[in-house]
Amino acid sequence: MTEKAQHLLVGIDLGTSQSAIVTSAGVRKVVDSYVGWPVDAVARKILKKEVLFGQDAVENRTMLEVHRPLERGLLKEGSDKDQQAIRELLSHLLDLAGVPEVRKSGGKVRAVVGVPAEALRVNKQHVRKAMHGLVDGLIIVSEPFAVAYGLDALLHAMVVDVGAGTTDFCVMKGRYPTEEDQRTLINAGDWVDDQLFTLLGERHPGMSVSIHTVRDWKEKHSFIGKAPGKVTVSIPIEGKPSEIDITDEIKQACESLGPPVAEAMLDLIASGESEYQEKVRQNIILAGGCSRIPGFGQYLEKAMDPFGGGKVRVVKDPVYAGANGGLALAEDAPKSDWEKLPD
Ligand SMILES: Nc1ncnc2c1ncn2[C@@H]1O[C@H](COP(=O)(O)OP(=O)(O)O)[C@@H](O)[C@H]1O
Ligand SMILES: [Mg+2]
Repeated sequence: MTEKAQHLLVGIDLGTSQSAIVTSAGVRKVVDSYVGWPVDAVARKILKKEVLFGQDAVENRTMLEVHRPLERGLLKEGSDKDQQAIRELLSHLLDLAGVPEVRKSGGKVRAVVGVPAEALRVNKQHVRKAMHGLVDGLIIVSEPFAVAYGLDALLHAMVVDVGAGTTDFCVMKGRYPTEEDQRTLINAGDWVDDQLFTLLGERHPGMSVSIHTVRDWKEKHSFIGKAPGKVTVSIPIEGKPSEIDITDEIKQACESLGPPVAEAMLDLIASGESEYQEKVRQNIILAGGCSRIPGFGQYLEKAMDPFGGGKVRVVKDPVYAGANGGLALAEDAPKSDWEKLPD
């Protein structure tokens, strides 16, 4: 047996909004990046759990101290709870993938973890520490790089990963990207949610809905450009169920993403050597949950028209693109790239 064959290989995408895991044994799991601890003894008695994850945590949030530890793409410095939440989340993902069983029976596990570019810059050390004792070998990379790796877009390509907390850009130059190959914007899905929430609040002052509901509406009805039809939702206004038209608010909130993302994309393309710029423009990859907004890819293509045009392809599987890329890298990585972790 080769050295590699003795290892279970794992790709993890640790996201602000969702985190996914895939393994060389064929497991694919995703969980919303929420971690919640029961606030008191009553909550603990009802929930019968020490910690809850994902939708389970969101649904029971009144009884929990809920953390979304990678919010804004940063592992917030100084918060022990966020630090603990990261470890719980990683450990939960590995549980879902059957990793503890593999290690108990003597198998070795190697993981590539993709994190938002900003978290990689600021807090790689925290992610590393959170993995201690959970796996045997580790590589931490930026999420857009993992996406590029998984699509084999390693040379003269750019990944635009529009997630929840941040939009991350990464130009691929046929090697591990450096600081100057990457950019991060805080204009991303959460920012759209906040705007939609504010716009709707202004228009319907008596409305009472949570940001979670507003996000659900966005995910169902988002678009940039021409409206696919009238968007109506039903909400309580001053306690009375009412049907409202939110087409304009959805359009305005989603379209606000266009200009800052296009500007940063063009700027990063222009910062590269001129003989490669044309190639990069023809090879833009739109990834992340917000890549599902209909019309987004076309918007970015149009933004490249004055510069000689370009092509944007939208990843087929935004939920797993990062984790799949991590697994692909795990399969290729030589022994020397792996960091050995203490137990
Ligand atoms: N169908 C959809 N239309 C518009 N936005 C979506 C859709 N599905 C998911 N999103 C948004 O994508 C974002 C999450 O993207 P994701 O790549 O999972 O983020 P992260 O990597 O930061 O966790 C959220 O803002 C979510 O609301
Ligand atoms: Mg992501």
